[in-house]
Amino acid sequence: MRFFLQSTHPSSLEGRDMTNSESKATLSFSDGSPSLDMPIYKGTIGPDVIDIRKLYGATGKFTYDPGFMSTAACNSSITYIDGDKGELLYRGYPIEQLAVNCDFLETCYLLMNGELPNAEQKKKFVTTVTNHTMVHEQMQFFFRGFRRDAHPMSVLVGTVGALSSFYHDSLDINDPHHREVSAIRLIAKLPTLVAMAYKYSVGQPFVYPRNDLSYSANFMRMMFSNPCEEYKVNDVLVRALDRILILHADHEQNASTSTVRLAGSSGANPFACIAAGIACLWGPAHGGANEAALTMLREIGSVDKIGEFVKQVKDKNSGVKLMGFGHRVYKNYDPRAKLMRETCHEVLNELGLQDDPLFKLAMALEKVALEDEYFVSRKLYPNVDFYSGIVQSALGIPVSLFTGIFAMARTVGWIAQWNEMISDPEQKIGRPRQLFVGSAKRDVPPMAQRG
Ligand code: SDX
Repeated sequence: MRFFLQSTHPSSLEGRDMTNSESKATLSFSDGSPSLDMPIYKGTIGPDVIDIRKLYGATGKFTYDPGFMSTAACNSSITYIDGDKGELLYRGYPIEQLAVNCDFLETCYLLMNGELPNAEQKKKFVTTVTNHTMVHEQMQFFFRGFRRDAHPMSVLVGTVGALSSFYHDSLDINDPHHREVSAIRLIAKLPTLVAMAYKYSVGQPFVYPRNDLSYSANFMRMMFSNPCEEYKVNDVLVRALDRILILHADHEQNASTSTVRLAGSSGANPFACIAAGIACLWGPAHGGANEAALTMLREIGSVDKIGEFVKQVKDKNSGVKLMGFGHRVYKNYDPRAKLMRETCHEVLNELGLQDDPLFKLAMALEKVALEDEYFVSRKLYPNVDFYSGIVQSALGIPVSLFTGIFAMARTVGWIAQWNEMISDPEQKIGRPRQLFVGSAKRDVPPMAQRG
């Protein structure tokens, strides 16, 4: 059963006539360098791109774009974001529709395969993933090397990378079947490893996955059941977790996805590439923001302290940021944040926590920020991380594991993007250049002459 599009990359630009593209950009220089025509390509939707690949060869000049604010690093057909509209599409489907009409494994199939599964395809895919949820029995020994209070992301970086030591049968990245087997193994085993990281941190025995539970119910049971008490599946809570996974599954060329693509461009195996993505996601400016947002809310403490906190945020010298707010692409409300807030309501109502002080504080803080010129003028809106911590906390997930849940969800997006890159005939090893501002060539002085 194949889950990946055949290796022909659907939107490859290869072979496109560079001289006859629909339109072009002409770059001229005031220093007398010869001007250069560069083709402009249109996507299905979204900004056009100027193909600058011939720039250095023709002019000896690089472009300069730290943070890649204006750079398309690849062409892709997986996820589209319209930051101004606050729109997110997975393979063309709006996230709002997927979050309501699909479950996470259907979304995984869509991201990997380009189309939603029919009933038979879904059944086969779910069975395949379910039958790969166990990890090699020796994996448990890696955990013993960690301190019990190690951050779960450090454990995941280590154990996911270590998976490659068990699967020499599926590491040929040029074999589409090997890529597919590795993808299934990663999607299936991340929940098991995340739950193991949690159990290890609380000193409880690892819980094996069960094949009679759904993906998200299986994870909740591996997290919360123990030898003394079976976990009772709560469908509302399981559905909430499943929706959290859908909302985090992919997001175009964000920092961690770009990390996975760059690692993969060297030919590194998929397990190592996903471990690199996990490492990047850990940063508080990226996936670590959900943990930081909840910590921020706890530090603010109460609604009457919001004014003082916002004052600190506006003071550039404070270095304080409103975590869970702002986004490189969204200059409107992150559609995932709206869905996350709805999920918050559902979970807190189910648990009788409607008056949860943190949720009330978050909504009050959001209201203040959305009415404050400082945030409005900078187009800072809540992003996916603002509410996700509150939901996860209500589900019983410890703060330190929030980014691990994000990694568990994003694994499918990373692996779909990685596969798209590997199967793109245009792909080369990623190797950016630089503007060198260091010392020009100089001779080594003898010791006596050194300052
Ligand atoms: C994720 O890329 C993705 O798609 C990521 C992600 C995904 O699904 O993969 O969506 C997941 O990472 C969401 C973002 C989570 N991070 C946070 O919530 C951390 C807080 N946010 C900021 O660190 C920041 O908003 C970023 C990093 C998210 C975006 O930063 P940018 O695009 O580089 O913008 P910037 O730092 O240049 O900010 C522009 C202005 C600056 O002020 P001025 O210099 O113009 O006066 O806005 C200010 C910033 O100081 N600003 C904030 C702020 N975010 C930006 N001020 C206070 N609080 C904030 N959160």
